[in-house]
Amino acid sequence: MNSDQPTYEDLRRQALAAAAPRTGRADTAIACDRLVRIFSADGVEVQALQGLELTVQRGDLVALVGASGSGKSTLLNILAGLDVPTAGSATVEGFDLLGMSAKDRLRYRREAVGFVWQQTARNLLPFLTAAQNIALPMQLKGRRGRGGAAARQADRVTRLLEALEIADLADRRPAELSGGQQQRVAIAVAMANDPAVLLADEPTGELDSETGAAIFEAFRTVNRELGATVVIVTHDPLVAGEVRRTVAIRDGRTSSEVLRRTVTDEHGAESVSEREYVMLDRTGRVQLPHKFLEALGMEHRVAVDLAADHIEVRPDTAEDPDDRRA
Ligand SMILES: Nc1ncnc2c1ncn2[C@@H]1O[C@H](COP(=O)(O)OP(=O)(O)OP(=O)(O)O)[C@@H](O)[C@H]1O
Ligand SMILES: [Mg+2]
Repeated sequence: MNSDQPTYEDLRRQALAAAAPRTGRADTAIACDRLVRIFSADGVEVQALQGLELTVQRGDLVALVGASGSGKSTLLNILAGLDVPTAGSATVEGFDLLGMSAKDRLRYRREAVGFVWQQTARNLLPFLTAAQNIALPMQLKGRRGRGGAAARQADRVTRLLEALEIADLADRRPAELSGGQQQRVAIAVAMANDPAVLLADEPTGELDSETGAAIFEAFRTVNRELGATVVIVTHDPLVAGEVRRTVAIRDGRTSSEVLRRTVTDEHGAESVSEREYVMLDRTGRVQLPHKFLEALGMEHRVAVDLAADHIEVRPDTAEDPDDRRA
């Protein structure tokens, strides 16, 4: 054997060293591990989530995409604390979504996460003004310390109205607002108690694309200026094309990811570089892109080799030992 060839042990050590900085869990906002959700309807079982893995860092803005029925809303409802998974683990900002008590669940929903639905009407109470809708979650949360609390709440309402550029709409009721304006108010309501995580299920689904783009910009503002970690389910390829990280869900599992980075060349010109990743699960399974497999005619069995800093996957061209003997 060539002595320059790195041994398996060398490679393992190199890989561990390279991975070390990413193991810090303090920066993790959302961690889902082998998440399973099975629904039983009319005696038929539906596996909506089939061992889903997802990690989201604090301060990230992530788009979730996937075909209808792939499990996006199921995942979001679990993260929102509205539904409980069948198995696996899910932790959001230190809350264990499978094990927490009813009291903690209520606190989690009121303080740790905010939620925006697709249906604009579902996000707001029709008989309250925009400002009153935004103040309501704060009033539900805080019972004590009446004196200073009222002033602090009023300040927070003003700050949210301004951040979302809807200060002039403060005294209007939902029926007096456009769909896009209602969604802005809904984002402010979701952010009222300053949650660490903001979740949105198709928040631009009922809006035309121009209004949708503006609402998406509002989510960016919340992410950047209010520091929330944001996860948005979307069908809109424009939205998905604008975020740094897009996670695709297929058949109840995370299947691939696209990461985008703005790179500046030596002349100062900016461009966006885009790279697609597939997910590696705990048992070592990866779902290779269909187009790659087709291009090289790979199926059933492939040859896998370890190289210094990557793994090689090749079509199986070796003759079958049994055939050779014949
Ligand atoms: N309460 C329920 N009872 C039974 N089956 C359910 C329930 N909720 C979801 N499902 C099923 O689970 C699967 C995933 O549904 P989910 O709503 O998460 O999909 P989705 O990705 O949000 O789809 P869409 O893009 O259409 O909103 C589907 O097969 C759906 O029929
Ligand atoms: Mg859905």
